[in-house]
Amino acid sequence: MYTLPRTLIRLCLLGAVALAQEPGILTPPPGPKPKINGAKVYGARPGHPFLYTIPATGTRPMTFSTKGLPKGLKLDAPSGRIAGAVARKGDYAVTLRAKNAAGSAERKFKIVIGDTLALTPPMGWSTWYNARVAISDAMVRAQADAMVSSGLVQHGYAYVNIDDGWNIKPGSTDPAIGGPARDEKGDLRPNQNFPDMKGMCDYVHGKGLKIGIYIGPGPLTCAGFEASYGHEEQDARQFAAWGFDFLKYDLCSYQKLIKDPKNPEEHKKPYRLMGEILRKLDRDFVFNLCQYGRGNVWEWGREVGGHFWRTAGDVGGGWNNVARFGYGQAGMEKWAGPGGWNDPDNINIGHIFQRGAGGGKLAPTTLTPNEQYTWMSLWSLMAAPLVFGGDMTKLDDFTLNILTNDEVIDIDQDTLGKQGAPVSKTGDLEVWARDLEGGSKAVGMFNRGEQEAEISARWSDLGLTGSYVVRDVWRQKDLGKFENEFKAKVGRHGVALVRLTRAR
Ligand code: GLA
Repeated sequence: MYTLPRTLIRLCLLGAVALAQEPGILTPPPGPKPKINGAKVYGARPGHPFLYTIPATGTRPMTFSTKGLPKGLKLDAPSGRIAGAVARKGDYAVTLRAKNAAGSAERKFKIVIGDTLALTPPMGWSTWYNARVAISDAMVRAQADAMVSSGLVQHGYAYVNIDDGWNIKPGSTDPAIGGPARDEKGDLRPNQNFPDMKGMCDYVHGKGLKIGIYIGPGPLTCAGFEASYGHEEQDARQFAAWGFDFLKYDLCSYQKLIKDPKNPEEHKKPYRLMGEILRKLDRDFVFNLCQYGRGNVWEWGREVGGHFWRTAGDVGGGWNNVARFGYGQAGMEKWAGPGGWNDPDNINIGHIFQRGAGGGKLAPTTLTPNEQYTWMSLWSLMAAPLVFGGDMTKLDDFTLNILTNDEVIDIDQDTLGKQGAPVSKTGDLEVWARDLEGGSKAVGMFNRGEQEAEISARWSDLGLTGSYVVRDVWRQKDLGKFENEFKAKVGRHGVALVRLTRAR
């Protein structure tokens, strides 16, 4: 980043030079007054169960109220949860309000009842990068509790997603996960770590959150668990009956069934099949395509019913992949937009599972602060789904500062849904920009190099003329009016993320 917080200056004087270019916490803590955060538009299908928790910071107790809610929806005033079902298609202009002892807040919100879900990139969490297959009903419930108690829910995080490892692993000698993969009716059997799938879904919904499940189109998942080949409709109906809201569909063993990888129809086939099944269910399912970018999935993910599609393999937790997957999205922006998003994979910071002796363990990220600011900034500029991969029960202040800056999240969740793209590149220095609703622009000035450097965001590259107010988004502070260009010093692997608004 670009200036030194006082604590770090102190550390430098004590000789901690390696930290010299690394910022500490930049996100201002939320104040006592209510503030409504998150997306400004939300889509659901007619007649399906609806659940939305108004994300708001500020001291509790807080009371919520609304104006203009469509018929069929009811607000729970103390929690801010809106639930029910809306029969009639349409765009409903709603006003959300929150009040507490310190003040009140109001925000416009649009509910769109129609065919399109994920009008903004989905936000949530997944088991994979913190637990691998060591997952259970109890841990999912504990993580859902933590999504609420950590405050993540107050910034728009909503999906608690179970990844690989919840059902039977054919051939396993471990009694907890072995045994018949399906019952006498052919229904999927959860493993012993998941004794009550419906109860678990109800529990997560009871917190105002949504819950996701994982399976694949092949005979087995990536970790060798039973998958849906030949049972697609039966499995989807089962997920709906349990109460899931989200499906990640992971190609894995289906790869062997693709005979001609040059034929896009072969890549589309298993996803189109599941997409059509999900579309006919009586619940809304956000459909996450996971096939590592094969056959240029970004060009057809939306057409087969996908709401977001992984553009590459597994990002893991190391800087090289973050940079490769993130900056590698240049050129894919054309296919992203409301209802369908490019997905460079989860944001794996905080405590994540790291390979090593004894099979690995949960440990803090090895990324520098700059690298973590870059991860969140780049994903937000790219309108990527914000799916946290770390352990929510072990969140520290720094990680929360990365995940919960509402002005950064506003860029990600911007209603226009326009994915950002690079506008200039000079050696290791890249400037990326994204058009936002109302005519302002989000600009990321990235230093991919090893030394601190000055980066210039030139109006000529951004297609701007005249005077613009530059706002430091991470610090949530206006920096003044600028003409022609804005320059910032940015440290190794760091970013200056700013918002440009035409000066009056
Ligand atoms: C693949 C996917 C990951 C994860 C694992 C589970 O590697 O890309 O995101 O779902 O499978 O086994």
